[in-house]
Amino acid sequence: MSAALEFRDVHVIYPRSSGRAASAAVQKALTRLDAGEESAVVSAEEAVTVAVRAASLSIAEGEICVMMGLSGSGKSTLLRAANGLAQVTRGSVLLGAGGPSLDVARCDAASLAAARRHRVSMVFQHAALLPWRTRPRVRDRRAVAVDGRTLFGTRSADPQPPAG
Ligand SMILES: Nc1ncnc2c1ncn2[C@@H]1O[C@H](COP(=O)(O)OP(=O)(O)OP(=O)(O)O)[C@@H](O)[C@H]1O
Ligand SMILES: [Mg+2]
Repeated sequence: MSAALEFRDVHVIYPRSSGRAASAAVQKALTRLDAGEESAVVSAEEAVTVAVRAASLSIAEGEICVMMGLSGSGKSTLLRAANGLAQVTRGSVLLGAGGPSLDVARCDAASLAAARRHRVSMVFQHAALLPWRTRPRVRDRRAVAVDGRTLFGTRSADPQPPAG
């Protein structure tokens, strides 16, 4: 049985420059990573951020998978690669669930839109869905916490987005 989702040797590298300089920096970074250099060193010296490096992972239909890692280690970026929100620099993201296998990393826009509509979904880490409704307009904003433990009448600090 094919996987519901499979990441194959996925790299996501964000350049800190634009245009030609950016693609040159990304290529140079890939070459150095392939040579075994540390991501942090490559990131610092090539004006890029190596967000995901050579990630390979296969998730079966119905499997619950938990990704754990330090803040900034690339968890959200890898998840965003599953629906094309993060552009994959190199590697494949094979979506098997809900239809024929689709490489999200290099499919056309119409296929990606259809996949997002019918086959893959995501709950965002920071973005509140309707922020103007989740933070009621009250005089004393300290009275409202919007971190999932919403309590009225507490004297909590100003609302913060959920962490983690
Ligand atoms: N759009 C972007 N442009 C540039 N750099 C980015 C972008 N998104 C993420 N990064 C960088 O990529 C790295 C990985 O970030 P990511 O958000 O994937 O980490 P994370 O493991 O989800 O962290 P956390 O546990 O804090 O949520 C970080 O250095 C981050 O600053
Ligand atoms: Mg994250």
